[in-house]
Amino acid sequence: MAKKLYILSSGAGGTKYMTTEALEALNECEAVVGYRNYVKELAELIGDKPVFMSGMTKEIARCQEAINYAKEGKTTCIISNGDVNVFGMATLVTELMDEQKLWDEIEVVSIAGVTSFLATASRIGAPISQDFAVISLSDKLTDIDLIDKRVRNCFDADMILGIYNPKSKKRILPYQNFLKALSEGEERIAIIASHVGRPKEKITVTTTTDLIAQDIEHPEVTMSTLIIVGNSQTRHTSNGLVLTPRGYLNKYEMSGELKE
Ligand SMILES: C[S@@+](CC[C@H](N)C(=O)[O-])C[C@H]1O[C@@H](n2cnc3c(N)ncnc32)[C@H](O)[C@@H]1O
Repeated sequence: MAKKLYILSSGAGGTKYMTTEALEALNECEAVVGYRNYVKELAELIGDKPVFMSGMTKEIARCQEAINYAKEGKTTCIISNGDVNVFGMATLVTELMDEQKLWDEIEVVSIAGVTSFLATASRIGAPISQDFAVISLSDKLTDIDLIDKRVRNCFDADMILGIYNPKSKKRILPYQNFLKALSEGEERIAIIASHVGRPKEKITVTTTTDLIAQDIEHPEVTMSTLIIVGNSQTRHTSNGLVLTPRGYLNKYEMSGELKE
């Protein structure tokens, strides 16, 4: 099967979170498709390859364009930031391939990437070292009540939360529901991370109390923001990082011996 379509994770932001596998796949491609802002970030790596870019809400057209390029025999990639499986393009490409029964015609290769959740965690210590859940607050494709239920259940279960797509100018209700759920529990450490990996990266360590107090006016919470809410054991380190201990030092002495 000569026709190949990569679903290519470009990493959290900029180019520094791209994997070697992603760089090699991009290099191999003869056509590139993607959301405008993400493609622009990779301009130097893409060089003069033919590019199809479009904006928000054009996801189906983009994925179809990538499939069409591959059908023409061009090794193609569709770029999706972070990891393609985390609220990215893997699902839609796979759905379209399946609907159109193209599995015998095009080989689809998914390239894993560094999500914005993982990139953020790496920048601020060891905040996600116990069980966690990542939840998108976008109600474009998911029922708003189901989002609220997932947030509440995970928060009640003392999971660390990674909150994607917190709010946009027009879409604020799911974020208000999220703040309400936080306000009904105990205070937690919160990390607000925007544009991770890009020159304008900003990461702030704060609390859920601060998030609740600033409500929908919080200047750092936009569509380019990821929020991490710690669990009941998440704490600050003496140098200002964030730590959710896995529990080693509850069980073992510093020497490595089991505690009595
Ligand atoms: C459509 S989702 C894509 C998620 C991506 N596939 C991932 O693995 O991180 C877009 C949301 O991801 C988060 N996001 C993506 N890139 C980010 C970055 N560089 N810094 C902070 N948040 C980011 C934001 O919450 C944004 O609204």
